[in-house]
Amino acid sequence: MPHPPEPFRIKVTEPIQLIPRHEREARIRTAGYNVFALRAEDIFIDLLTDSGTGAMSHDQWAALMHGDETYAGARSFHRLRAAVEDIFGFKFFVPTHQGRAAENILCAALVKPGQFVPSNMHFDTTDANIRARGGRPTNLVIDEAYDPAIPHPFKGNMDIGKLRVFIEKVGAGNIPLGMMTITNNAGGGQPISMENLKAVAAVYRSHKIPFFIDAARYAENCYFIKLRERGHKNRSVREIARELFGLADGITMSAKKDAIVNIGGLLCMNDEKLFENVKNELILREGFPTYGGLAGRDLDAMAVGLYEGLEEPYLAYRLAQTAYLASRLNEAGLATIQPAGGHAVYVDALNTLSHIPQSDFPGQALAIELYLEGGIRACEIGSVMFAHPDPETGRMVYPKLELVRLAIPRRTYTQSHLDYVADCFARIKTKASSIRGYKLSYAPELLRHFTARFEPL
Ligand code: F0G
Repeated sequence: MPHPPEPFRIKVTEPIQLIPRHEREARIRTAGYNVFALRAEDIFIDLLTDSGTGAMSHDQWAALMHGDETYAGARSFHRLRAAVEDIFGFKFFVPTHQGRAAENILCAALVKPGQFVPSNMHFDTTDANIRARGGRPTNLVIDEAYDPAIPHPFKGNMDIGKLRVFIEKVGAGNIPLGMMTITNNAGGGQPISMENLKAVAAVYRSHKIPFFIDAARYAENCYFIKLRERGHKNRSVREIARELFGLADGITMSAKKDAIVNIGGLLCMNDEKLFENVKNELILREGFPTYGGLAGRDLDAMAVGLYEGLEEPYLAYRLAQTAYLASRLNEAGLATIQPAGGHAVYVDALNTLSHIPQSDFPGQALAIELYLEGGIRACEIGSVMFAHPDPETGRMVYPKLELVRLAIPRRTYTQSHLDYVADCFARIKTKASSIRGYKLSYAPELLRHFTARFEPL
């Protein structure tokens, strides 16, 4: 598979450097073998996240200079409002400082202790924000999502049968909202079909359950629909997006992904009473409703980025770039979640390091080896993140998948960077049997992957 030519040229550069191997060994040791504790200057290619790490365009940088820092009623807000109304079509919206702030405010307004919030798969901040209000997040994605080898074109789909049974069981009155995450980040960046979204919307509507979409990567999802779903080939991504949002009652969105800004988020809705509550909550936590925790200049960069994130030559390049990296890794004999996701490639560490038991953290071992081999930073999504003791038996429960996520920042790295990443993986593959596991030397109780420390076995 060829790498697509980038639909931009480079006008501003930011130097990166590869420090020597012995220094990488020292830095990762000092970091307690946790890549989150590395410093930016220790890293050559940073694939930790695609969130807020993309490159803004010259139009976005120019828009920053138009930023209007008026406290209330800034021009920047009204420019963003025009873009949000045009693209998403909801009646009301507020800006927030990032995606999880929108989730926090929505959950504060809707979720009561003991209530359930179903989704295909909640991202971890959504999951945590629902739990923080005493709610119970529930994932009802199709079973194929849990098998890395199945190349299902819409592996992020909701299992409609499971959703119906679930609503019957807990009762619609105990479900203050239903959600869908597009694309499904926690499940490999996999898309959801329009057909599935229509079916989900119909089930929620028939039970009068408000339907909110986590739209962090909606533009990538819409382009997957254009490429893969019958009847959408000749439609524009904007048309597809309008149809998709027409199915929902609102969205939460981290603008740090498909709106290609370094900071920002959105909360949109049609319900006026909910909007009143949201505004009060926003004023308490984020700021006045015309800036929502952001500077005026950030609102302007977002207004421009929302349109750029929908440009089809960009989206064609974006999805082909991820698929290219996945195909290079597969050629080198590494198993990745099939098909490639929109924003990231997920390497199957259980397959690559099959001699390391999950209790010795094969995903973590692979992420560390990647740093040692090439100064590349990636994120473990496996036992470090998810293993937990069973509350009844005390025995450790391990996740089904042990992954290393290579998230691709937008418009940031070129083909030669990705080739370098693939070459490093190919070398790791040839010496995989000599790689050893790790043990924890410190771990906090919650969200331990951010601050845990390890020792090599
Ligand atoms: N929803 C999804 C699907 C996400 O992937 C993220 C963030 C959020 C919500 C929260 O948005 O960071 O702006 O508060 N994902 C990042 C990642 C952190 O690396 O995947 P936020």
